[in-house]
Amino acid sequence: MHTDFLVIGSGIAGLTYALKVAESMPAHKVTIITKAQSDETNTKYAQGGIAGVWDDLTDSFNKHIEDTMIAGDGLCNLRTVEIVVKEGPQRIREIIEWGAQFDKDPDGDYSLGKEGGHSVNRILHHKDVTGKEMERALLQKIQSMHNIELINHWFVVDIITQHHLGYLVTKATPDIECYGVYVLNLQTNEIEKIISKVTVLATGGNGQVYRTTTNPTIATGDGVAMVYRAKGRIENMEFIQFHPTALFEPGVSPSFLITEAVRGDGGILRNRQGEAFMERYDPRKDLAPRDIVARAIDSEMKRNGTEHVFLDCRHMDKEKFVHHFPNIYAKCLSIGIDVMKHMIPVAPAAHYSCGGIKTDDMGRTSIRNLYACGECASTGLHGANRLASNSLLEAMVFGHRCYLDSVEKVPELSYREGIPDWNDVGTNDPKELILITQSLKELQQVMSDYVGIVRTDVRLERAMKRLDLLFNETEELYRTTTVSSYLLELRNLISVGYLIVKGADFRKESRGLHYNTDHPNKSELVENIIL
Ligand code: FAD
Ligand code: SIN
Repeated sequence: MHTDFLVIGSGIAGLTYALKVAESMPAHKVTIITKAQSDETNTKYAQGGIAGVWDDLTDSFNKHIEDTMIAGDGLCNLRTVEIVVKEGPQRIREIIEWGAQFDKDPDGDYSLGKEGGHSVNRILHHKDVTGKEMERALLQKIQSMHNIELINHWFVVDIITQHHLGYLVTKATPDIECYGVYVLNLQTNEIEKIISKVTVLATGGNGQVYRTTTNPTIATGDGVAMVYRAKGRIENMEFIQFHPTALFEPGVSPSFLITEAVRGDGGILRNRQGEAFMERYDPRKDLAPRDIVARAIDSEMKRNGTEHVFLDCRHMDKEKFVHHFPNIYAKCLSIGIDVMKHMIPVAPAAHYSCGGIKTDDMGRTSIRNLYACGECASTGLHGANRLASNSLLEAMVFGHRCYLDSVEKVPELSYREGIPDWNDVGTNDPKELILITQSLKELQQVMSDYVGIVRTDVRLERAMKRLDLLFNETEELYRTTTVSSYLLELRNLISVGYLIVKGADFRKESRGLHYNTDHPNKSELVENIIL
């Protein structure tokens, strides 16, 4: 298959990019590939909303910039922050024009919510299912575009570079180029090749590397792992954001999120004794940035020997709660929790990857003709900790920027010919799936126990040793068996785990989401860790 623009991923980043390119170049072909159903994305599960400066009387670009920088704990790139904050409202207006609906107050103005780390109310939302509404609007608009082909259940295995033409490619190779991808058709189990002029990775997050996560099963860090294998640049992987308040429901995975907007509307965290403990940790209490709240909860759980704390909403107005959070209200009720009478058991869960594929301010990666946007990218916006509800915004702003750059470039590009077919000589069908499923469990266990909210040098060292073993066993499987999505995801998750541990090990300080008790202070040298 040949296509001008190849987009991997059908979340907010990939769809925004694809729509813009398709509209501006109607004679060019745009292909979107996704490994699952098109709406099965992290985007679909976004609850709280999308941050943006909307009310000029109460808010300003400077305030949003400052809040983002404070949350990022010294590592945000100011230029990127300014770009996202200033261009964000225009992107939000566009998605509204494409049909996304956000809640309004009775007077007709958009109702703006508040979440941790925001100094004012600036979060547009659709009830507590904002992402589902945005994904719906984008997918509907995609259907009207004649030059977009959206293919479900195709799993991208690797990006194609000079390496596949027989050249030695290392991190030092100056002009690594992307010519397209190898992709596993999950219906036929055949590996196809797609040759493209421009390729965009919008493959989302990697929460599945942890045992407890809010991320759906698609979130396996495939884009990051592919770029790492192709010798592209990856940065700041140690900054994994744990959302403070996932519903505590043993045995259920992924974890159901209780949006931070509930705390924005007055929800209070309490420990086993009923104490509103956040007062002891930060003057911003329950609305401190996520790293602080998640660590506080972790510390309370350890102190009290409990597996969760509580979110108390009993004092909140029932009508308002049900109106803003109908999905949460119904979910809690379905497991016997009436939030007006009972406190909600909550615990932190892996939620968001702040680092990822290193990109510049137009979404270009270190590999030519390869862009990245959305959660898989590291643009410099989030630094050491993402401000709540900034990621949907970032995905749209950088989807747009990738579009601007790539439509200028595409007329000069041609298809690379002579790409070899996928070579699976010497491989056989896997005999035992347990080899894969057990390794995945081990990986998630190691990452959760040793590379979670609080880290130490010894834990990181142990994690690396365990990962090494899992890596070798999995590479052996990969060499000898025909590929499956399970094996590919395991392989990618092991790479992601390795990158997180490596980043955490290099960072000899505690900053933002990375907290190591052996290095509890911030280093004076503020640097990104590029792998
Ligand atoms: P995704 O939406 O995750 O899409 C990734 C796509 O890539 C999918 O289509 C997937 O199938 C595809 N893909 C991946 N690998 C491959 C492969 N190998 N081959 C083919 N296709 C592949 N952010 C906010 O700003 N506000 C919120 O309120 C908010 N709430 C959240 C609540 C939850 C429960 C979660 C999990 C996240 C939340 N976030 C929120 C974060 C935000 O939703 C995500 O960061 C964002 O949606 C990511 O969008 P994306 O387009 O980058 O990736
Ligand atoms: C939430 O609704 O609490 C999640 C918001 C986010 O991840 O930005």
